[in-house]
This record gives sequence, C-alpha cells and structure tokens, in this order.
Amino acid sequence: MFARTQERQGNARVNDSDPIIDRLRDTLGPGGVLTEEGDVEGYAVDWRGLFPGRPLCVARPASTAEVAATVRICGAAGVALVPQGGNTGLAGGAAPDGSGRQVVLSLTRMGAIRDVDPVGLTITAEAGCILKVAQDAAAERGRLLPVSLAAEGSATIGGIVSTNAGGVNVLRYGMTRALVLGVEVVLPDGSVVDGLRHLRKDNAGYDWKQLFIGSEGTLGIVTAAVLRLVPKPVHVMTAMLAVPDPQAALALLGLGYDALGDQISAFEMISGLSMSLVAKHAGLKPPMAVTGGWFVLIEAGSSLHGLAEAAETMLGDALERGIATDGVVAESGAQAAQLWALREHVTEAEAREGRSVKHDVSVPLTAIPAFLAEADAALAAGAPGTWVNAFGHVGDGNLHYNVLVGADDDAHQINRIVHDVVAAHEGSISAEHGIGQYRTGELARYRSGAELDLARRIKAALDPADLLNPGKVLPPPA
Ligand code: FAD
Ligand code: MLT
Ligand code: ZN
Repeated sequence: MFARTQERQGNARVNDSDPIIDRLRDTLGPGGVLTEEGDVEGYAVDWRGLFPGRPLCVARPASTAEVAATVRICGAAGVALVPQGGNTGLAGGAAPDGSGRQVVLSLTRMGAIRDVDPVGLTITAEAGCILKVAQDAAAERGRLLPVSLAAEGSATIGGIVSTNAGGVNVLRYGMTRALVLGVEVVLPDGSVVDGLRHLRKDNAGYDWKQLFIGSEGTLGIVTAAVLRLVPKPVHVMTAMLAVPDPQAALALLGLGYDALGDQISAFEMISGLSMSLVAKHAGLKPPMAVTGGWFVLIEAGSSLHGLAEAAETMLGDALERGIATDGVVAESGAQAAQLWALREHVTEAEAREGRSVKHDVSVPLTAIPAFLAEADAALAAGAPGTWVNAFGHVGDGNLHYNVLVGADDDAHQINRIVHDVVAAHEGSISAEHGIGQYRTGELARYRSGAELDLARRIKAALDPADLLNPGKVLPPPA
C-alpha cells in the first residue's frame, strides 16, 4: 500500500481511566482495546491527514458477536462509535472527532474469507478482509472480484461496501453495490441481522441491504458480505494512448466500443500534469512524451481469441483519424502492470506535491469536455494561481478534478466554483468517495430539502440516539 505522505498525527491522547474501557476490555480481551497514544494514533486521523481526531479508545472486536457486544456497551453509556476498516477513505468518514468521547470500532481483526464458490460465482468475506486478499482468493480459483482501486492493498471489504466504492472497472461491472448479494450487519441497538444470502434473484420483501451499502457506517456496521464474482477473462489487453484533448478521449471511447464491444473494462483518462506529478514524485515515466495533452489507459478482457487484433484495429483507426497521437499496447502482464502503475500513483503523487482540494465529480459522459473547459475557466477567474490535477474514470463519467492550491487559498470557495459547474451539468458532487465529514456542507447545498429530509428520517428510524458515526454524511439541520 502507498505510504501516507502526510503524517498521521491526530491529537491521540486517550483517557484510560474511563469505566467503559474496562467494560470493553472485559468483553474483547486486553488485545481488543487500544488506549496507548502510539497505538491509537494511526486510527485517529484520515488518510489525507485533514481530520485529526482524538478517540476515547479503539475497540477491535474479533467476531460478529463481539461487534454486537461493543455496540451494546457503548450504546448503554451513550458513547458514539466510528466504524473503521483500512482507513483509506478520502472523505474523512472513518476518523473520530476531537472530543475524546468517540470509540473507533476497527474491523481489522475480522479478516477471514469464509467461502469462495467458483461455480455459484460468490465470495463470502468478513468486513476486515483486505480487498486485495479477497481478489487473490478469487483469482486462485480462476475467478475475478472486479472491484479494483489503487488502495486495494489496504481497503477492506467492509469499507468498500460501506462506501459503495467505484474504482477502475465500473464501466463493465458496476459499482460495489452491483456486486453485493448479501450482508451481515450489526444495527445501532446491537442486534445482528444475517442477510448473507448468495441469491441473484430475491424479491422477498424490502431489499434492506441497500441501506447499508454506501451509507458510510451511519446506519449499521457491516460485519461480512457476499460478493459476486465473474469468470476471469483469459485474454487481457491493456493499452495507453496519447490524445490531444478530452473530446478526442470520448471519440476514442466510441472507437473502443465499435472495435471491442462490451469487452472494455476500464477507460481512464490522465492529464499531462498528472503524469508529470507521477514522474516527479514516483519516478515513473509514461511510454510516450508528455506534451501537455492527455493520456488514456484502456483495458479489455475476453475469453475468446481476437482481442489483440481488435485492439490493433482500434489503435490504427485512432492514429489515422488523429484521435490519438501515439499509443502502445502492453505485450506482457509486466508491461500492463507498468502502465497501471502510472495511473495508480496519481493520488499519492498529488499528496506529495502539497495541498490539494479534491473534487470527486460525475457528469453525463458527453458533458466532460464542457465541464473541464468551464471549470478551468471559472477557476482561472475566481482562484488564479491554482492548478488542476484532473484524471479519473472517464469511461463512467467520473473525474477527479483536484485543485492544487497554496496555503492561503480558500477550499470552500474553490469547492463552490467547481461544484456550481458540476450542478450546471446536472452532475454529482461525489461520484464514488462519499460525503464523510468532508462534504456535508456541500451536500446541504446541492441536494434538495426533500432528499435530505428523507435521509434524516431513515437515520432516525435506525439510529435514533445518533450513536453511529455522528456528524458524517448528513448535514446538520439548517
Ligand atoms: P475506511 O476508510 O476505513 O472507511 C470508509 C467509510 O466506511 C467510513 O465512513 C467508515 O466509517 C465506513 N466503514 C468502514 N468499514 C465499515 C464497516 N465494516 N461497517 C460500516 N461502516 C464501515 N475509492 C473509490 O471508490 N474508487 C477509487 O478509485 C479509489 N481510489 C483510491 C486511491 C487511493 C490511493 C486512496 C488512498 C483511496 C482511494 N479510494 C477510492 C477511497 C477508499 O479506498 C475507498 O473509499 C475504500 O472503499 C475505503 O475502504 P476502507 O476499508 O479503507 O474504509
Ligand atoms: C483514484 O481514482 O485514484 C482516486 O479515487 C482519486 C483521488 O485521489 O482523488
Ligand atoms: Zn477514483
């Protein structure tokens, strides 16, 4: 997993004498509760270092029954819980506040894979199982768990379910939600609901699991999940192309659909500036010159022959028509991994460059060139001197439009400039990272009163005492 480039320094002192700590120790054992400053600091602040907190302690249950007991102990004392998996979230959702009264509930001791079914095409894993471990378990049986993101070496199954993670394969396989067949959850009152079903078809009553997918630990604690697998494609084609502008990238996607049909699984766009940051901070160079244009990383997979020929046709066509100015097709798995490394290091390189204001936006696909032109112009007028690190999952309309700023730039003003352009295109202010505590104010501005009201009613029904991840996702009432 990538090193965190900003020191994870929360103000992590804990109050070891609080009676709740003894009750938790009695239930979870001495190793199940962390109180020492050096032990808790990694849990006290988010990956970006933007939200340093101070937990009462870190509870580390090792089973669903222990999670339920932890919830009941904290509930009886009126103490709030902050669920946490790999702590790679980019919206501050897994970080406690600074009150010293919230317990971080870490799922990392629940890492078992309970079952891989290569015929039924399912994997059942506990919440703390690292995504990469689950992917590898599926691959050993010749199957693919198609959720893939740069943080997969640390992100957990509970985390990807609770954030409805996206990543690089959404184009073909959908967001995490599309892959979840069943979940087991602990509710805020400590009751356990076992919905670990392996069914593709199940219309027996409300599909309640959807409430817990993407609700960022505010409605329940996911303790295990059944995820859908797909047969692993036998042939994989990975190519990188240089394109003059985002309009050309969309034309290339059209060519890709013509030549490769539904075999395309990833279509990522990376700006020249993003590539320069990766070269500067990770020492990785693209296979063609960085000339100020854009790069597209495209991957397709199939179990039939003919993928390489179709890719050559697409590349030839793109070059001939001036849609692409250069391109390479990986000739081995190692070369494909080198191309992916360029994409996967953008976030870390950005963090090393300095302060950034992240925007995880989606707009209708064909509006991407207009969005970029308008947002660039609005920033040049409203926040001169800032730079844009734009990249992302363009094949599904999701751009990471991250603004590199100086110490004096106002993040709220920059959010407002960018998100107003998103709203003008009827887009979303969070395509995949979620709201956490980073975007609650923005949610209040861009979602209707009726939608926020509905969300608050759902929260109140499940967690009337507001003990599960308070202050996250839902903006405070106006
Ligand atoms: P955490 O960060 O620990 O938690 C995230 C949220 O889920 C918090 O609100 C937390 O309270 C809640 N939560 C965690 N576990 C549980 C549980 N068991 N039950 C209930 N609530 C829980 N995200 C994408 O969608 N696509 C990407 O391409 C992507 N790329 C990334 C690249 C990098 C380099 C990094 C650092 C992050 C990236 N992310 C991406 C964000 C992040 O990896 C995902 O959001 C991931 O799903 C978080 O998993 P986690 O286990 O680290 O969760
Ligand atoms: C990614 O796709 O690499 C992350 O989701 C983006 C980010 O760092 O903004
Ligand atoms: Zn992303």
